[in-house]
Amino acid sequence: MPAAKPVSDSAASARRLSTLLEVSQALSGTLNLKSAIQRVLGTLIRHHSVVRGMVTLLRDGELHVEAVEGFDDRARSTRIKVGEGITGQVVESGKPIVVPRVSREPGFMNMGLRRSDHLRQELSFICVPIVLNRIAVGTLGVDLRFKPERDYDNSQKFFGIVSSMIAQALNVQRLVEEERRRLLDENTHLRQELRERYDFSNIIGTSGPTRQMYEQVAQVAQTNTTVLIRGESGTGKELIAHAIHYNSLRVKKPFVKVSCAALPDTLIESELFGYEKGAFTGAVARKKGRFEMAEGGTLFLDEIGDVNLGTQVKLLRVLQEREFERVGGTETVKVNVRLIAATNKDMEKAIAEGAFREDLYYRLNVFTIFVPPLRERKADLLLLADHFLEKFSREHNKVIKRISTPAIDMLTAYHWPGNVRELENALERAVLVCDSAVIHGHHLPPSLQTADSSGTVTRVSLKDAVVAYERDLIQDALKTTRGNRAKAARLLDTTERILNYKVRSYAIDARRFRVSEGARRRSRADADGQADGYMA
Ligand SMILES: Nc1ncnc2c1ncn2[C@@H]1O[C@H](COP(=O)(O)OP(=O)(O)OP(=O)(O)O)[C@@H](O)[C@H]1O
Ligand SMILES: [Mg+2]
Repeated sequence: MPAAKPVSDSAASARRLSTLLEVSQALSGTLNLKSAIQRVLGTLIRHHSVVRGMVTLLRDGELHVEAVEGFDDRARSTRIKVGEGITGQVVESGKPIVVPRVSREPGFMNMGLRRSDHLRQELSFICVPIVLNRIAVGTLGVDLRFKPERDYDNSQKFFGIVSSMIAQALNVQRLVEEERRRLLDENTHLRQELRERYDFSNIIGTSGPTRQMYEQVAQVAQTNTTVLIRGESGTGKELIAHAIHYNSLRVKKPFVKVSCAALPDTLIESELFGYEKGAFTGAVARKKGRFEMAEGGTLFLDEIGDVNLGTQVKLLRVLQEREFERVGGTETVKVNVRLIAATNKDMEKAIAEGAFREDLYYRLNVFTIFVPPLRERKADLLLLADHFLEKFSREHNKVIKRISTPAIDMLTAYHWPGNVRELENALERAVLVCDSAVIHGHHLPPSLQTADSSGTVTRVSLKDAVVAYERDLIQDALKTTRGNRAKAARLLDTTERILNYKVRSYAIDARRFRVSEGARRRSRADADGQADGYMA
């Protein structure tokens, strides 16, 4: 039948295309390459008269069996040397080898692994290399039922395509693996860096209050106690929270921070406790909250004083029972998290005003660390200044050796309302504007400039200052009384005689403040009119 050949041809190509589709789905469906390749071999056996197949990959100079189908299990542990047997030759040369009749091939490695039923039928063997970046990194070998009419060229091309698809998947897997390893390395490195950064040695200060603080941190770090850190803004509360975590037994677990003040009331609960799918519009999937993210580690609730009363109730429950429910969920989640909270608020006042729950406060206030303001630990100030000078010189690539004595005086005279953070910023600014090897007074920010250092001292005698002040007061009183001296004297609690004397001696022109009779009448009429209008 003349039409038969094209029909069977197109049926064969349709079968091949559908196999390739299945192969590509198997390879792209998972990141577990081994099981994907196993599935590819299964597909080939089902659709392509493949009796059995084997994929090998080069590792440490030898071919390791990655997946087999149709061999018994011993085949999985087989190792093939490069250049050994047909498979070894394929990877060595990077070229495919086709053996139409296996029984006639003396060099064919039997490996003693064939199943007896296969021995009875004649087989063909096709082995194609798996090529990655132009280098053969493995092989795909298949045994096919021998058919004298088989187009070996075509078959070899087909298996070549399958092998290049495996190569692509291998490439993706290697990239992912590389990226994963890079991230792991980076993570280890960052953790190490964090540990170093939050080491005690990086909390600068030797003053009495600072030493006391170190002792408290050391005492509490190794326990699971809830810690409340109190102190003004910029005193180093967050630094201490980190130091506690990185010196605790939870060091290998996460440190998770929540800035309570930065989160609007509507978001804070879902941020802390997570939410279930469908809890609210936009909740398309379940999301873990910060409590769950911190599992095994430490949760740092910064600015706890700003949490709303509703959330305070839920926090109280977590602190008491170590469990909570996600927003929109009923499942109770248990957590093992150590809590550190910080605030610069006056908590006692907040409790008195009803803005903070007393019971939550007592739960948090188990171990409180007070961080003193910088102005109360002047001994630390110069150490900190030197520390920041060195840090910022390094960061901005500048060689600055010291801080001049007048600049040191300015630093110590200042009251530092913004505490260590303000000092840090002042030093960074000084390093940036400094054009020599020494920080001078004029490199410091304007808020630190005293009248003395900036040459803006006003030279005025006490007598002149009093005269100026007195003249101002009298002029002001006359203005109020519209030039009426008797009224002005009463306003200033003095006599008219004294006022007249002063007006004359200071040459104040009292008439300037008088309002003409006409103007006065007009203004009174205006006022009456307004009052009438108001009454109406
Ligand atoms: N003793 C210290 N040694 C070195 N650096 C410090 C010290 N105390 C604070 N700092 C630095 O000062 C800056 C402010 O500290 P931190 O953020 O911990 O303050 P905070 O008390 O949390 O402030 P806020 O209440 O405003 O959040 C940080 O850059 C920190 O590294
Ligand atoms: Mg802070």
